[in-house]
Amino acid sequence: MARVFSGIKPTGHLTLGNYLGAVRRWAEVDQHRSDALFCVVDLHALTVEHDPARVLRLSRQAATLLLASGLDPELCTVFLQSHVDEHTRLSYLLECVATDGEMRRMIQYKEKAPRERERGGSVRLSLLTYPVLMAADILAYGADEVPVGEDQTQHVELTRDLAVRFNQRYGHTFVVPRATPPVVAARVMNLQDPTSKMGKSDDSGSGIVHLLDEPAVVRRKVMRAVTDSGRDVEYDREARPGVANLLEILAACTGGDPKALAGDYASYGALKKDTAEAVVEVLGPIRARHRELCADPSYVEGVLRRGAEKARAMARPTVDAVHRAIGLVPAVSEPVPDPVR
Ligand code: TRP
Repeated sequence: MARVFSGIKPTGHLTLGNYLGAVRRWAEVDQHRSDALFCVVDLHALTVEHDPARVLRLSRQAATLLLASGLDPELCTVFLQSHVDEHTRLSYLLECVATDGEMRRMIQYKEKAPRERERGGSVRLSLLTYPVLMAADILAYGADEVPVGEDQTQHVELTRDLAVRFNQRYGHTFVVPRATPPVVAARVMNLQDPTSKMGKSDDSGSGIVHLLDEPAVVRRKVMRAVTDSGRDVEYDREARPGVANLLEILAACTGGDPKALAGDYASYGALKKDTAEAVVEVLGPIRARHRELCADPSYVEGVLRRGAEKARAMARPTVDAVHRAIGLVPAVSEPVPDPVR
C-alpha cells in the first residue's frame, strides 16, 4: 500500500480552498486507499513573525477541523509535527546534505524574505531552512506520495533531490517521494481577487470563506464575489476568472462539471445564490462536527497523542538508519547496527 504524507500549516483559519483543494480528497480518497499521515505542521508556523497564543489556538483548531472534515483516526494518522522529535532530528541531518544555494533558490523564500524585511527588518533563519524541515517531514515516513498544491511542488522536488543525494552518498536509506497534484477542478480562488489563491494566511479578506463561517457570512461573501464585466454565464478561466471560480466552487460542492453548469444559468445573481447555498450545505456538517469535537477536547487530545505515538514509531527506525549511515554513533538504547562494512 502506498504511503501518503501531507501537512497543513496553522498560519490561519482553514478555508474552503483548503477543504475543496486538499482536505476533502484526503478524507474521501487517500485515507481509504493508502497508509496515510496528515500532520498539522506547527513548526512551520514559526518561520515568520508570530503570536504564540495564536499559533497554539490555530494548531488545535486545524487538528480539530481535520477530524471534523472526515479524517478518521482509525484509517489514517493525524498528529502535530512538534510532538514527534524525529522531524527536527532528521532536519538537521538533511541540512548536512542540502546546500545554501539550493535554499536561496526556493521561490517561497525569494518571495517571503523581502516581505519580512519590509515589515520588521529581519528574516528568521528558519524561513531559509524550512524546505529542509519539510523534506524531513516527508522522508522520515518513507512517503511515496505527497498530495500538495502547485506552490509546494518545488519543495517536493528539493525533497527528491536530497533523498537521491543522500542515498548515493551514504547508501540507500530513503524512499524517493513524488508530488501528487490535486484534482484540477478544485483550485479555489479568492472571491475578491479571482486570480490569486484562496489562501489562509491573509485572514481578514472578505474574499475568503473559512470552514467555520456562519451560513449568513458565507452567503454575504459569495454574493459579493467579484464577477466579470459581461452578463452571460460562461466558463472561461482566462477571460472570466470570477465567474469561472464560482462555477468551479459550485461544481466541486455539487459534484457537477463547471462547463456544463454554466449552461444552467442566465445571470450572475442566480449563479451566486446557488453557489452560496451549495457551500453552506457542504460546510454545515463540518461545523456541526467541529462543535461536537470542541465539546470534548480530551477526545481530540487523545487522538493527537495516539497519532504522535504511531508517527514516532514509523519515523524512528528511518531516522536511526540515517544516523548510522551518516556516521553517528548510535545511542546505547538503539539496536546494535550491522557490523562495519
Ligand atoms: N509547506 C507546506 C505549505 O506551506 C506545508 C508542509 C509542511 C507540507 N511539510 C509538509 C506539505 C510535508 C506536504 C508535506 O503548505
